[in-house]
Amino acid sequence: MSKRSLQALAAGIFILATPLAGATSRDIAQAESPGKVLQVTVSIVNDGRVAYTVSRQGAKVIAESHLGFILANAPKLDRNFSEASPAETSSHDDSWEQPWGEWKTIRNHYTQLQVHLKDAKGRGLDLDFRVYDDGLGFRYAFPDQAALRRVEITEELTEFNIAEPGAIAWWIPADEWDYNEQLYRKQPVTEVGLAYTPMTVRTPSALHIAFHEAALVDYSAMALRHVEGQLFRASLSPSAQGPAVVRTAPFNTPWRTMIVADDAPGLYMSHLELNLNEPNKLPDIQQWFKPFKYVGIWWAMHLDQASWGAGPRHGATTANAKKYVDFAAANGFRGVLIEGWNTGWNGDWFANGKDFDFTHATPDFDLEAVAAYAKSKGVHIIGHHETGANIAVYEPQMGAAFDLDQRLGIDAVKTGYVADQGGVQARAADGSIRYEWHDGQVMARHHLLVVTEAAKRHIGIDAHEPIKDTGLRRTYPNWVSREGARGQEYNAWGQPPNPPEHEVDLVFTRMLSGPMDYTPGVISLQGKKQPIAGTVARQLALYVVLYSPVQMAADLPENYAAQPGPFQFIKDVPTDWSDTRLLQGAVGEYAVFARKDRNSESWYLGAISGASARTLALKLDFLKPGVKYTAQLYRDDEHADLKANPRAISIEQKVLTSKDSLSLWLASGGGVAIRFVPRR
Ligand code: NOJ
Ligand code: CA
Repeated sequence: MSKRSLQALAAGIFILATPLAGATSRDIAQAESPGKVLQVTVSIVNDGRVAYTVSRQGAKVIAESHLGFILANAPKLDRNFSEASPAETSSHDDSWEQPWGEWKTIRNHYTQLQVHLKDAKGRGLDLDFRVYDDGLGFRYAFPDQAALRRVEITEELTEFNIAEPGAIAWWIPADEWDYNEQLYRKQPVTEVGLAYTPMTVRTPSALHIAFHEAALVDYSAMALRHVEGQLFRASLSPSAQGPAVVRTAPFNTPWRTMIVADDAPGLYMSHLELNLNEPNKLPDIQQWFKPFKYVGIWWAMHLDQASWGAGPRHGATTANAKKYVDFAAANGFRGVLIEGWNTGWNGDWFANGKDFDFTHATPDFDLEAVAAYAKSKGVHIIGHHETGANIAVYEPQMGAAFDLDQRLGIDAVKTGYVADQGGVQARAADGSIRYEWHDGQVMARHHLLVVTEAAKRHIGIDAHEPIKDTGLRRTYPNWVSREGARGQEYNAWGQPPNPPEHEVDLVFTRMLSGPMDYTPGVISLQGKKQPIAGTVARQLALYVVLYSPVQMAADLPENYAAQPGPFQFIKDVPTDWSDTRLLQGAVGEYAVFARKDRNSESWYLGAISGASARTLALKLDFLKPGVKYTAQLYRDDEHADLKANPRAISIEQKVLTSKDSLSLWLASGGGVAIRFVPRR
């Protein structure tokens, strides 16, 4: 019972109108998904608080969860609400095309519910719900009104109260020093702390729910704070400049989303995240960006065999860059990433932000000559802008840097924001430097500034240490990829490598938000001091499993030369798909993908296991009926073993059709990759 109800009860004025428990609830609006799978109810409860519940085929998924805000410049907006006007519902059903992606055509089929509220002070607040069969999103809309024009948000009070007891979560903590590059924890929901999103939950009845947000524009990112029981509340990333978010009405918050599915693959197969973003603002994108694979001056630095900074071990020399260009040209890779090409690298990533110069190369790197050489070979240099998260230094240089890139034919740039949480350096309106957060409103604005400035010069952006992905690639499809989770780089460093379940966890958490530049393909399986915890076949499978329209072949050229068999799959695998099916999988245990090449009739299969070996029984009914395919199989050899023999790979060719089945054994940390090419 609330404190206020207790006081009322004590005062003896609480007798007839209100049940003894002190709870009142009046439903004010309802909506059902098109196939009648999900239902949302909005209510006014107790002292005028707004709440919502979600049910799935009659069973509660989200129990009473409250909505509202704490403001810095006005009384909080969370009680004494009533309907300002009747709620409206409408249905929507159409399809749109991704210019590149996992699926070509995406259906957008939902029921919309708009609720118009006002509080006792007459301040309006609207709620938009979009209810799909496989999930829902809702957002707040602050209407244009004199009573609340400048909106300073200290806290968003949005709740998510998971109804079915006994749920477990796969999550990483938000706001930790190492940002979002962490291993997933599997714990009862009741033991979660402050969770980054997407956070994935499984209930005892095997319902899977993934909580996240969509269209994070000019707002601060939302983490989920565990409050009590199975109740979470939004927690906005802070700002050093005061309130987490400052906006002028009218505006919308990002969508608060949950995908709800019967099984883990159902989470991945949802298009909720993309559908809740605005349509493409770059209609000519296909004329200037096409998905590609790339190699680069990269892994050698992570192995400590070369340095980013100039000096005797400098990786980005003219000669070395030309060697990589030759390697790319000889093996059909479009891109060559060159890190450490510019001045300002003084050894330590974390201390460099102030010195980085994005238009001047080191003396031993002839940028113009390398760009001309690449052009002569049909290869494209990928630019690198490591900012050290010092956007105060980067932003004033950005326009000139992209102009230079455009002039040299550099049409993709990898950005980087290496710094601890709270270590982003941004210039405030008064000219002072403020220390900001990677996921705050300042960075939400910064990333879109980068992406739109890059788009003007027809440049694609792949951001590392980025703000979280919320599906904005639909609106800005030159925002082609990002990191935003623990990638392959950790396998290079002197610490335990990523455990086998990590990449499986990614599929059902991080990958629900969008593409990841994981940088697969280290078939040498060798980090700086320790082996990678997985097999060679798994490194190949990752190209199919962890989607990105730009995929690196991350290993050293000499390591590929030493293993031409497995390398062939990396040369063959596309990075753009017309269809994707997550055929089988369980969070942390395994995932089996089939994807169809967007530019041919070929299919590709990629499967990875977690810590346990397993045998997959696989129907090939995704293949086109009546077509015979030459299947090139790259799988863990029967002698493969995570510790004793991770390099044992079996490569064989078979003729297969949609009527066939395969029984495939995957080692612990194992994988299988298959290319199906129609026979003529
Ligand atoms: C961290 C990035 O994830 C990595 O890919 C890059 O090489 C380094 N920062 C240096 O920019
Ligand atoms: Ca990183």
